[in-house]
Amino acid sequence: MTKDSKFTLIVICGVIFFISFMGMIIYGYKTFAISPLNQKAEEASSHHFALIAEENENDYWRLVKKGADKAAEKNHVNLEYVAPKKADNDEMNRLLDRMIAAKMDGIIVQGIKGARFKNLVHKSVERDIPIVTVDTDAKASERKAYVGTDNIAAGKLLGEALLSNTSGEQYVGIITGRNEAINQQERVQGFRDMVEGHKRIHIIDIRESHITKNGATIASYKLLKQYPKINAFVGMSALDGPGIVEGVKEVAPFKNVYVLAFDTLPETMQLLETGKIDATVAQYPEQMGYDAVEVLIRLQGKDMLDNLIYTKTNIITKEGVQKKLDIQ
Ligand code: BGC
Repeated sequence: MTKDSKFTLIVICGVIFFISFMGMIIYGYKTFAISPLNQKAEEASSHHFALIAEENENDYWRLVKKGADKAAEKNHVNLEYVAPKKADNDEMNRLLDRMIAAKMDGIIVQGIKGARFKNLVHKSVERDIPIVTVDTDAKASERKAYVGTDNIAAGKLLGEALLSNTSGEQYVGIITGRNEAINQQERVQGFRDMVEGHKRIHIIDIRESHITKNGATIASYKLLKQYPKINAFVGMSALDGPGIVEGVKEVAPFKNVYVLAFDTLPETMQLLETGKIDATVAQYPEQMGYDAVEVLIRLQGKDMLDNLIYTKTNIITKEGVQKKLDIQ
């Protein structure tokens, strides 16, 4: 190789090296550098919370999530939503454990009965992760606060409605979402407390709907078949009212059955307007989600003295809805 060609080769290699080196720097910067915009977003989202719902595809829990998302957006909170596919305490506890391991800054979860939940909440206390129960409280645990309905009082509202809107003997079938859910047990207790001592009210039996409309249809169908005397049904969770209406339609389409429901999902409200449901207890799930996030923010680094935050409940009767429709 001549001196000239050696020089040309060195120059070519040098140019190739320079181009590759510059390319690497530019590409590396674009890939790994945090742009000021991303940096701002990172700084702004100061907390990372989780919301654990009872069941994933459930319209009631969608409302809780909607409210929580609103508060999260307002407060720049990064909110994770997780839930079992089908309502299941073991699966909810597993998710709670996973969220504790993921070192969340706070967790919102439906209160669960049992020692496993209590132990997990204790674990979260040891790790400085505040837990707020939503919709259903677990008073026996070390949760930092509860946001939701006073479920015993809500059960009493149902009892009151039955007493004041019916006359004569009432043979009552109760449909609960899940017998092991604390809020269902409290609602049944409130209902029983209210009707106790009223000799014309007879509670015949209690069946589960597994918080599905179809489950409530089957449960009320079987109850009516087994006890044709039943002339009143009480649904204790959000999809029970519409399920009961279907069950009654199947077994005794012409019988006058008094139906009490829970929540104000669109189908329940429609059945209330048409008189198939007589009254329902309104809860405010969106408000629960919203308040739970704000409470978790307040709980960062400190406890709250007033840690029972009851959201509103009220009874809406067929007459009340119809009166409202007449005015409009
Ligand atoms: C209850 C929730 C439940 C839902 C089921 C509501 O009335 O408050 O705990 O998950 O019904 O659809």
